[in-house]
Amino acid sequence: MLRVAVLFCLVSWVCAVQMPCRNCNSKDVKLPSATAIPAPSGTCQSVTVTPCEKAPCELKRGTNVTFEVQFTAGSAASKLTAEVHGVINKIPIKFPLPNSNGCKDSGITCPLVPGQMYTYKDTLFIQSIYPLVSVVVQWNLKDENGTPVFCVVVPAKIGPQ
Ligand SMILES: *[C@@H]1O[C@H](CO)[C@@H](O)[C@H](O)[C@H]1NC(C)=O
Repeated sequence: MLRVAVLFCLVSWVCAVQMPCRNCNSKDVKLPSATAIPAPSGTCQSVTVTPCEKAPCELKRGTNVTFEVQFTAGSAASKLTAEVHGVINKIPIKFPLPNSNGCKDSGITCPLVPGQMYTYKDTLFIQSIYPLVSVVVQWNLKDENGTPVFCVVVPAKIGPQ
C-alpha cells in the first residue's frame, strides 16, 4: 500500500500525483454524519489524480480531471455506480459525472473477482460555477447492494481556469 504521495509527469506539461488512500470512514476524516458511509468491501491501494502538481491538488475550472483508484476487490460485484461529492465546509455537494457506470469505460470488467487488483479510472469535469475554495472530493464506487467497493476522500481545491 502506498504511504507517501508521489509526483510523476507523463507528457511534458501533464503531471500526476499518486497518493495514499484515505477511506471515507477513516476516523481522521471529519465528514458530516449525514454522509456516513458503510465500510467498503474492497481495499484501496492508491489514488492518482491527473493533472495535479502537488497535494492538495488544484482542480481547475473548465477542465477534466482524471481520478484513478487502485484497489483489491473484496466481493463479486456485478454492477458499479460511482457517486462523487465535493464536501465544502462540511456540506456535501453532488458532483455530476459524465460517466457514472463503473463497469463501462473505467478499466474494469464486471463482475469483479474477489482478491484481484483493479485500476478504476474516471473523469470529473470541474464546472465553472464551483466556488474557488478548498474541497474534499469524496469518491464512492457502489455495488448493486449500495455497499462501497471503495470510498475514498481526496483533499483538493478548486482553482481558476
Ligand atoms: C472533457 O471531457 C469531455 C468528455 O470526454 C469532452 O467532451 C470535453 O471536451 C472535455 N473538456 C475539456 C475542456 O477538455
